[in-house]
Amino acid sequence: MSKLRAERLYKVFGRRPDEAVARLEGGTDREELRAQGTTAAVIDASFDVEAGQIFVVMGLSGSGKSTLLRMLNGLLEPTAGSVHFDGRDLTGLDPRDLRRVRSHEISMVFQHFALFPHRSVLENAAYGLEVQGIPRAERIKRATEALELVGLGGWERSWPDELSGGMQQRVGLARALATDADLLLMDESFSALDPLIRRDMQDQLLQLQKRLKKTIVFITHDLNEAMRLGDRIAVMRDGRIVQIGSAEDILVTPANDYVASFTQDVDRSRVLTAGAIMTEPAEVLGTTTDDGTELRTERDVLTAAPATVTADTPIIELFTPCSRSGVAVAVTDDDGSLIGVVSRARLLAVLGEPDGGPEDTRPDGTGPEGPERPGTPEGKVISGA
Ligand SMILES: Nc1ncnc2c1ncn2[C@@H]1O[C@H](COP(=O)(O)OP(=O)(O)OP(=O)(O)O)[C@@H](O)[C@H]1O
Ligand SMILES: [Mg+2]
Repeated sequence: MSKLRAERLYKVFGRRPDEAVARLEGGTDREELRAQGTTAAVIDASFDVEAGQIFVVMGLSGSGKSTLLRMLNGLLEPTAGSVHFDGRDLTGLDPRDLRRVRSHEISMVFQHFALFPHRSVLENAAYGLEVQGIPRAERIKRATEALELVGLGGWERSWPDELSGGMQQRVGLARALATDADLLLMDESFSALDPLIRRDMQDQLLQLQKRLKKTIVFITHDLNEAMRLGDRIAVMRDGRIVQIGSAEDILVTPANDYVASFTQDVDRSRVLTAGAIMTEPAEVLGTTTDDGTELRTERDVLTAAPATVTADTPIIELFTPCSRSGVAVAVTDDDGSLIGVVSRARLLAVLGEPDGGPEDTRPDGTGPEGPERPGTPEGKVISGA
């Protein structure tokens, strides 16, 4: 069973929300409702988040991300649909139980650090525990540990305004970690930070995640951030989830032109991995290398390959080996067995064509001749090779 499940969630603001849901189900579109003063903020959203995963929700401003997030911890009541957390239906809990879940099991980290200026860093980190009614000695112990975890050991007695933005955001993160909640909801938590500090925080979150194995729902409107952090990514548009998949899925097989246009500026060479673009070894069997060796067996492929990489190698690391010889780079598993190959042609096709090369699998079937998207990353990436 998944840790968190959203099933056919709707949130409508305005008059007669139930009627609006029925109309949306019947095919009325959002704009029509809006003209009547009703906002359908989230429409028919369903997804599962597995324990230990980072699930990213991405979308433009106003697409419904925060509204969706607030329904996940019961801060907002869905107009229709349900949220199951650890198998319990949050929408069916009485207010007291819901408050308990919200203060003990689910933690929220906001965009603006929400620190109390007249409390020390330590007291700020301990705030969630205070709400839980944890005794003072225990609070101090756990908040101190959490500050240590986010790299703020030694800053316990400082005041928030003595800290940089990145450090303040870490205090917010420490506050969430100190509560021991296993579900963290993060709403644009890093968006207010400078780019370099933001990257740092992303790295730190990924490292913490490896150790602590929290389940995280992370909201962002930044695709690169989504791609770095998300085990799975949901793309929202106008209240609806239009695609859910891995970073690779979204880049290589965007569900529609909207998703594709979102991904056009992404540096594919850093996001995609060898595993995502490799093809069957059989593809190069029967070919002949520059020095005249015919590749008859997989062993020949391994021997002739200019380099051997693993499935998680980012493709930016394939440029040099690929340029070295006409033969494909070999992708192997941990035991050194050949699991796939990346040919130079394949590498260039994936980088140059927004549709992911020859095997275009877009569900709308428009194929590579479909509506053109400007600005493929071609020039940028190839010139860097
Ligand atoms: N309390 C509310 N009352 C009425 N409308 C609301 C309310 N909260 C949100 N909305 C509307 O719902 C829609 C979705 O808003 P939401 O805040 O969820 O978007 P978002 O994706 O988080 O945007 P942003 O990236 O700007 O934070 C917007 O049209 C917004 O105006
Ligand atoms: Mg928001």
